[in-house]
Amino acid sequence: MKLEEGAHPSPLSNAQWAARGSRVLVGNVCREELVFRKGRGAWLYDVEGRPYLDFLGGVAIHVLGHCHPRVTVSVQKQAQRLLHTSNLYYHEPQILLAEFLVSKTFADKVFFANSGTEVVEAAIKLVRRYGAKTGRFGIMGLEGSFHGRTLGALTLTGQKKIREGIGPLPEGFDWGPFNDFEGVVRKVTPETVAIFVEPVQGEGGVIPADPAFLRDLRRFTRERDILLVFDEIQTGIGRTGTLFAYESYDVVPDILLSAKALGGGLPLGALLTTSPLAEFLPPGSHGSTFGGNPLACAAGLAVLEALYEEGYLPEGGQRIAENLWDELISLKDLHPAWIREVRGRGMMIGLVLPGRAVEVKDRFLRERILVNATGPEVIRLLPPVNLSLEEIATFIQSADSIFSSMGKPGGS
Ligand SMILES: Cc1ncc(COP(=O)(O)O)c(C=O)c1O
Repeated sequence: MKLEEGAHPSPLSNAQWAARGSRVLVGNVCREELVFRKGRGAWLYDVEGRPYLDFLGGVAIHVLGHCHPRVTVSVQKQAQRLLHTSNLYYHEPQILLAEFLVSKTFADKVFFANSGTEVVEAAIKLVRRYGAKTGRFGIMGLEGSFHGRTLGALTLTGQKKIREGIGPLPEGFDWGPFNDFEGVVRKVTPETVAIFVEPVQGEGGVIPADPAFLRDLRRFTRERDILLVFDEIQTGIGRTGTLFAYESYDVVPDILLSAKALGGGLPLGALLTTSPLAEFLPPGSHGSTFGGNPLACAAGLAVLEALYEEGYLPEGGQRIAENLWDELISLKDLHPAWIREVRGRGMMIGLVLPGRAVEVKDRFLRERILVNATGPEVIRLLPPVNLSLEEIATFIQSADSIFSSMGKPGGS
């Protein structure tokens, strides 16, 4: 059935398309020789019509799977009505989406951009403008973090390899140790005005923040008038079981950054904050031509409405995630020499496979299952929250046969 859904293959093969692509596209990413043409739910279909079980979801985009009917219909309707106006005017989808986000979160105000890295940049500007009143400009990220690829966001990122080779970088950034409150406090200076945290580090290896770490940070930053910024670009929009991860940690940030799944596949980012802090981005201080345009906002609104109206939020998605977690824990018990740990939250899951993650990712690909290796240690799973039990079983059976056929991790 899946094969039929993916029918109408292209006259060119994966290899032929990939050869054409590699001739004309900059090689800034390592791409598989794989060319997709169609997606439905948790499934992608390549140009040869073959199905793939997608446990990567466009890297945390497709929280409801590919081409969810509500998102598709909403985009079609909006595309017929209005695509763009500029932000010199209001339009309905942006207002409706902002109202939705405000109604479900601590925030009073929203700024929209087109991507994660852009809302990180907006937050850097906001906190610097906030700090200017007391002469503070220092921004702290955490070791192992990832915040994006534009200059401010990559400077904030706590991974040397992301920052290398493009200096000089902006000044005033430093990195504290993740999940080590005392270590962070030791790094704070009188200039520090903000600390950026991912509640679950994604690119850094799917490492959840310790709840006590976030609580201590919140107390400390309040005492010192330091702004606490949660980068929920990967953890948000139902990915970790609640709309945003801060809810389950019960720690409210001053600024929250969302993107990825928010746009349901369209480019969309959002900075959420309180009214007093929003004053630090007054008219003319920041902007974006396309940010929060009608098409992307219509898609975003459809994603949020579907998550709530179809029962994945506030809790249905978490129940499905628990099924997957139960199966993954059993898989770990079956293959303890391979899987050292299953970690993460909700549908943001890391399988810790010391030294063998890339090889295992390649084995999954041979079974036509898409996962991602974040470095040599961790396989990252980011499946949709509406996975079926059958899809969970397909993944687990394939993983079991992969680990069984690979023998002992120390061997060969
Ligand atoms: C936590 C986090 N912040 C920021 C970004 C950057 O987002 P974008 O790629 O949309 O610029 C990412 C992307 O992976 C991310 O995971």
